Amino acid sequence: MSARSPLFQQLGLPDGELGGVSGETGAGSVATSFDPTTGQAIATLRTADRAEYQRVVDRAQQTFASYRMVPAPLRGQLVRRLGELIREHKESLGELISLEVGKIRSEGLGEVQEMIDICEFAVGLSRQLHGLTIASERNRHRMMEQWHPLGPIGVVTAFNFPMAVWAWNAALAAVCGDPVIWKPSPHAPLCAIAVQALADRAMKETGQLGVFQLVCGGSEPSEWMAEDGRLPLVSFTGSSRVGKQVAAKVAGRLGKSLLELGGNNAIIVLDDADLSMAVRAITFGAVGTAGQRCTSTRRLFATPKASKALEASLVTAYGSVKIGDPREAGVLMGPLITEAAVTHFEATVAEARKQGGEVLCGGKRVDRVGHFVEPTIIKAKDHSMFPIAHDETFAPILYLFEVADVTRAISDQNAVTQGLSSAIFTSNLRHAEAFLSPEGSDCGIANVNLGTSGAEIGGAFGGEKDTGGGRESGSDAWKTYMRRQTSTVNYGSDLPLAQGVEFL
Ligand code: UN1
Repeated sequence: MSARSPLFQQLGLPDGELGGVSGETGAGSVATSFDPTTGQAIATLRTADRAEYQRVVDRAQQTFASYRMVPAPLRGQLVRRLGELIREHKESLGELISLEVGKIRSEGLGEVQEMIDICEFAVGLSRQLHGLTIASERNRHRMMEQWHPLGPIGVVTAFNFPMAVWAWNAALAAVCGDPVIWKPSPHAPLCAIAVQALADRAMKETGQLGVFQLVCGGSEPSEWMAEDGRLPLVSFTGSSRVGKQVAAKVAGRLGKSLLELGGNNAIIVLDDADLSMAVRAITFGAVGTAGQRCTSTRRLFATPKASKALEASLVTAYGSVKIGDPREAGVLMGPLITEAAVTHFEATVAEARKQGGEVLCGGKRVDRVGHFVEPTIIKAKDHSMFPIAHDETFAPILYLFEVADVTRAISDQNAVTQGLSSAIFTSNLRHAEAFLSPEGSDCGIANVNLGTSGAEIGGAFGGEKDTGGGRESGSDAWKTYMRRQTSTVNYGSDLPLAQGVEFL
């Protein structure tokens, strides 16, 4: 596919080699984007060198100096325009996601919808950046909290949500008054370049220049961001291993990091569950996006009766999943992102078999070009298989463990280092509430009678433990992008000191 294809034209991407750095030529190395469905190169792009990165951050700082004084509802107009442009180009953006990272059409479109949703949320939020008024202990004093813009922020995103995760951060940051510098995954630069082109248009049309910038590259720009004292916040989505390095560097300069790291999410199914609902949720959670969501379902804990029934119906459901070109109608599972991911999948299945795991279905790579594997269910021998199941393999592998009861299921579910998403299927109110109680799931997301993936943008998204503790998207996640200022105003003619202290 050449850069002159209609899809690129619709998205306003120029012909030939693409520029991957805002306002710069791209003096770093030339990178290539590949289609995981065919393994073929799609386009080449120029990435940032260090000097260009420095200038991008300089510009973000200059933008911040004036942008922080633009009233928040006016900042919202920039995000409103961005959301409109994304909506206008929904089909093409979804298609580009399918092309570059292999998501099926409906999931590609779903990701673009998530961007539209967060833009709408952020526009409303631009009129609601509220603080508290707090009773002062001093006479004729008023104490209040204000939320001010924080400064330019770095946003590092992963391949599996190549557009939406930027939008969660960028839409909130923009209404909060923070310029955004985006470092996308090296596996998904085209998705970023296309979205940035729309962001450029929105900025031009609303006269708010310099708010959104792009810096494509390998791992270097993320390292520069982590060390850069000019960026008070770095939002990082990726593995727990790299996230720990980023967090340490950012903490070393007393910056803030917002971490969205690995998950190892489980669904618990009790004997009293609605099994047909559970089967659909498990299949979407484990097979959707070819098991490459942070929220993908990787472990299943079922009580004995449910476990037996699930084995049969999941194997049937998995058998009906059409694997192939993600752009083709009816296909439910596309490729993994790289050949290395396929090798990791194969090695993990082989090791699980060696440890006594029974492969109920799948287990092999698909014999065709591209990075395709079969969705796989492995019935674990027993708890001796916890270590392999606790290692997050970014592939459609689901481990099934039989458990005696709900208490055991919850403690087994919590026995991983990560804490992103979790779910229980039961019609017993006591079990459902126990799962949601302080001694229940230890994850940032805990669902009853729905799966682990596919969260809505209205809630705060993120998880505990090795998932990093960050919260993005809805609820009050916006506070991370602002600085809190406590102000006390004395409107009297005395100067009483707090805590009754006498002085002068
Ligand atoms: C991710 O995998 O990094 O809840 C994000 C979901 C999506 C977001 C996943 N809304 O599955």
